Amino acid sequence: MPDSAPDFPVSRSSQRLLLDQLLARRSVGPLQEPAPEGADLDLILDAGLRAPDHGKLRPWRFVVIRGEARLAFGELLAEASAKRDPANGAALGERYRAWVRRMPMLIAVGATVKSGNIPEIEQLLSAGAAAMNMLNAVHLLGYGGMWVTGANTYDPVVNAALGFEAPSRLIGLLTVGTPATTLPAMTRPNRADHVVEWTG
Ligand SMILES: Cc1cc2nc3c(=O)[nH]c(=O)nc-3n(C[C@H](O)[C@H](O)[C@H](O)COP(=O)(O)O)c2cc1C
Repeated sequence: MPDSAPDFPVSRSSQRLLLDQLLARRSVGPLQEPAPEGADLDLILDAGLRAPDHGKLRPWRFVVIRGEARLAFGELLAEASAKRDPANGAALGERYRAWVRRMPMLIAVGATVKSGNIPEIEQLLSAGAAAMNMLNAVHLLGYGGMWVTGANTYDPVVNAALGFEAPSRLIGLLTVGTPATTLPAMTRPNRADHVVEWTG
């Protein structure tokens, strides 16, 4: 490992510790209160704002959904799912209402897509990188969370209600809170299955 850059002065042992913490990140489904707030929430959102971004377009838009607003969000998901699938609307609606009530906080992540030289996919990828940075920050601060999508993320009714009009769009919902259970160990991918060295 190279020595720390002057603007990031941590020792080698701290560097390793930080990376070990990062490598221990995992998605957490069952969540309970508390959700991060105040300085913790600001740090998580700032982590999102450190995502790489071609052309300095700053395509990130994060919508924080917490407290009573979660109930309205549950209603929105119920309405949208009933429109998509009228036959199963009632059951789906109940499922979404209950799911949102179980989540201490949601952060809807999307990209405000601008036309120009930077391809749309790069703006969406930057929003995805922001989501990942926020998930890492959630984990490093001792909270838990998960990136979920499903049909609602791609639903125009849900997108419009959260302020995303095409070509801008949601890329996912982050659930955020405190892990509700101790999760079993997780098998992680083998490096060799995913990495090759190109030798020309
Ligand atoms: C773009 C994206 C969308 C996802 N959507 C869902 C989803 O809707 N439901 C779900 O159970 N997991 C979803 N996942 C997977 C979880 O977020 C998580 O990555 C997976 O459970 C593996 O856990 P890990 O992050 O600990 O490796 C999604 C992941 C990504 C990257």
